[in-house]
Amino acid sequence: MSQLNAVRVEELLAAAQQAAEKAYAPFSGFRVGAAILTRSGKVFTGCNVENSSYGLTNCAERTAIFSAVAAGELSVEHELEAVAVVNHEGAICSPCGACRQVIFEFGPEATVIFRSHSGQMTEVAARELLPEGFRLR
Ligand code: THU
Repeated sequence: MSQLNAVRVEELLAAAQQAAEKAYAPFSGFRVGAAILTRSGKVFTGCNVENSSYGLTNCAERTAIFSAVAAGELSVEHELEAVAVVNHEGAICSPCGACRQVIFEFGPEATVIFRSHSGQMTEVAARELLPEGFRLR
């Protein structure tokens, strides 16, 4: 797992918290924000975007990662250094399986920061969140 300093972690959590305020979550009311750090040192944020057709919902983590890809800042494995995710009210918010797979694509060693089921803020490597993550290459 990468060595992230505490200041960086706090910056990412603050950016994620701000992003959560932008969430479009009229159906669940569960507002989520994510902030990712690329190896080039750039931060991208995202929020969850729900839809009347529920299954089309996009989680905050994927919104942030897809924004970085669209900006040309994530294109290769290992370019993702960290992902912080928060619920706007500080609720437990463990990344879903789909997001774990998307995180794994760009950063198997990325540090993922979130409030775990224990209730504590946790930092864990993506590879530990998704053992044997799927890869085509
Ligand atoms: N959600 C996220 O955005 N990220 C997560 O890590 C877990 C769940 C969103 C999806 C949906 O809009 C809402 O939270 C409730 O499931």
